[in-house]
Amino acid sequence: ECSATIAKEKNLVWQKTDISKEIREKSLNQKARTIWFTGLSGSGKSTLANEIEKRLVAMGKHTMLLDGDNVRMGLNNNLGFSDEDRVENIRRIAETAKLMNDAGLIVLTAFISPFRKDRRNANKIIGEDYIEVFVSTPLEECEKRDIKGLYKKARDGVIKEFTGISSPYEKPENPSITVDTTNRSLDESVDIVMKQLEKFL
Ligand code: PPS
Repeated sequence: ECSATIAKEKNLVWQKTDISKEIREKSLNQKARTIWFTGLSGSGKSTLANEIEKRLVAMGKHTMLLDGDNVRMGLNNNLGFSDEDRVENIRRIAETAKLMNDAGLIVLTAFISPFRKDRRNANKIIGEDYIEVFVSTPLEECEKRDIKGLYKKARDGVIKEFTGISSPYEKPENPSITVDTTNRSLDESVDIVMKQLEKFL
């Protein structure tokens, strides 16, 4: 409704093309999905998404993985970590995922996406293809791992606005799938997600 108003103001008219999303899905023999991982830095989002994409490809699925650090080096290289920039980061990712869903792909996204409102907006943009996976590994465990040494830098005040330390993380209220990677092997965590994911594919 809001975008219809904007379209009118800007004299934009949606161009309908002959090959629809449904036809693209049919030719790929799959249902388009966006598997949206959310969780703290170091919770295991990227590792899980990477491994799950491998399983999906092994099943013959057509996929694409969008990952936080990588997208921030390209498409979103003009964005930082202020609340405002995180909002725009997530909006662009959601629009990109939607385009890829329109191409018939199963998209996996691995972004902290700390704000409930933005995840809701992502869900609104992506629509019924959206599946939320909460990687619920608690802060203490993420900080203990500190794979990239960022928690230390955040505690020392070298990095400002670090999620979980000096910037909020709002837990999902109703995720489709939840997994805590504490004391679990990668394979175990992947099995937990895959088992639940199968009913959405
Ligand atoms: S967000 O909040 O969704 O916009 O963040 P995202 O695009 O996923 O980027 C998170 C990765 O950026 C690195 N990094 C930071 N994260 C959080 N807060 C601050 N201030 C920050 N500065 C840099 C960090 O490597 C995150 O990667 P992950 O994979 O989550 O550990």
